[in-house]
Parts: sequence; structure tokens; C-alpha cells
Amino acid sequence: MKIKSAEFVMSNSDVAKCPKGMIPEYAFIGRSNVGKSSLINMLTSRKSLAKTSGRPGKTQLINHFIINKEWYLVDLPGYGYARVSKTTKKIFQKFITQYFERREQLVTAFILVDIRHKPQPIDLEFMQYLGEGGIPFSIIFTKADKLKPKAIDNHVEDYKNILLETWTEMPNYFITSSSKDIGKDDVLSYIDELNSNMKPTA
Ligand code: GTP
Ligand code: MG
Repeated sequence: MKIKSAEFVMSNSDVAKCPKGMIPEYAFIGRSNVGKSSLINMLTSRKSLAKTSGRPGKTQLINHFIINKEWYLVDLPGYGYARVSKTTKKIFQKFITQYFERREQLVTAFILVDIRHKPQPIDLEFMQYLGEGGIPFSIIFTKADKLKPKAIDNHVEDYKNILLETWTEMPNYFITSSSKDIGKDDVLSYIDELNSNMKPTA
């Protein structure tokens, strides 16, 4: 898919105020600092469409971007960030769960995980949460530039092993690096394919 246009639409903490209508949308979620905003910039080839930062907790709101005037790309705040209080740390921020529970327009979520780390409980918990809610998701491994190919394979394998303990199959996954422009076409083609599946056939 060629990105002809990518524009910021709005930021919200209230799901009820997110764009109306049934334009298909795709959400990017994951731990703080995993590289969600950077990935969005890589996918759209826009350097600073989504705000990035070396400090975790940069994205605090639900951000809608419209791509090719056809679909929404949604940048969400990270979960599992320690600056929130102990009680809220245990659960995912309420407006994040409300987002997933109420956005009927959501076609699929992309859960981003840092390829350098072993499977983390909070990511597995989030996958479990989406799975139980019947919300489709894919995994996007980020920061692949930080590891050698063999280590990448090993870390993906660790994920497969742990997910296959609870799931019948490994979800779709992508290996990406925003700094090295890796994985862009794979993710965009996947979105393109899902978008075409939704168009009524004449
Ligand atoms: P929050 O909005 O705080 O939840 O973070 P985020 O997930 O949106 O992460 P963001 O895109 O702001 O990136 C966090 C840090 O990781 C920044 O310092 C980025 O430069 C760095 N980063 C993101 N993607 C990559 C990547 O593919 N490779 C490398 N080496 N660094 C990356
Ligand atoms: Mg961000």
C-alpha cells in the first residue's frame, strides 16, 4: 500500500468522543517506550506524525490519524508504566480497556513487543485480555536492529512456545525496526488486505 496522505485527526481520553462512523481502524498498543509512535512514523513515512520520546509515557491519549482518507491508524498510550499509582498499575488504564470494548470500528489491534526481551507477563496478560474479548490482534516485534538474526529467531521462538501453551496457534506476527525501516511493507500489506476484505464485492 502506498501512503498518499496521513493526517492527525484528534486526541481523546474519552472513547465516546472518538471519530464517529464506520471507517475501519487499526490500533497500536504495547508497553511504554516499546516504539509505538516511532512505528507509526515509519509506516506512514512521516518523521513526526506521532510524537516520540526516549522517556516512557510520552503518548497519554488516544490519537487518531487518517490514512489515505480511508482508514484510521490509532496511537495509544503505553500500558505498564510505573509512574501511575500501584492500584492502577495492576489494571490497564480504564480508557484503554474502554477503547477496546467500545470501538466497533476496530479491525485489528497490533500489540508491540520489544524483540530484545523474554516474553513479559504484562504483554501476555494483554494478549489474554484481547483474546477473551474476541478482539483480533497481531504481534509486532520492535527494535529488531538491536539483535542479530539468530537472537531474533530465538526470541520469537520463546514467544511461540509460551503462547502455544494457551492458544491453539501463534497469532500473526511481524518483525520490525523503525530506525532501519524494517517490516514496513509487511504490515502495510496486511492492513491493505484486511481493508479490501471489508469492501463489499460488487
Ligand atoms: P510511549 O508513547 O511513551 O508509550 O512510547 P512509544 O511506545 O510510543 O515509544 P516511542 O516511539 O516514543 O519510542 C521510544 C524510544 O525507543 C525512542 O527513544 C525511540 O527512538 C526508540 N525506538 C523506537 N523504535 C525503535 C527501533 O526500531 N529501533 C531502535 N533502536 N530504537 C527505537
Ligand atoms: Mg508513544
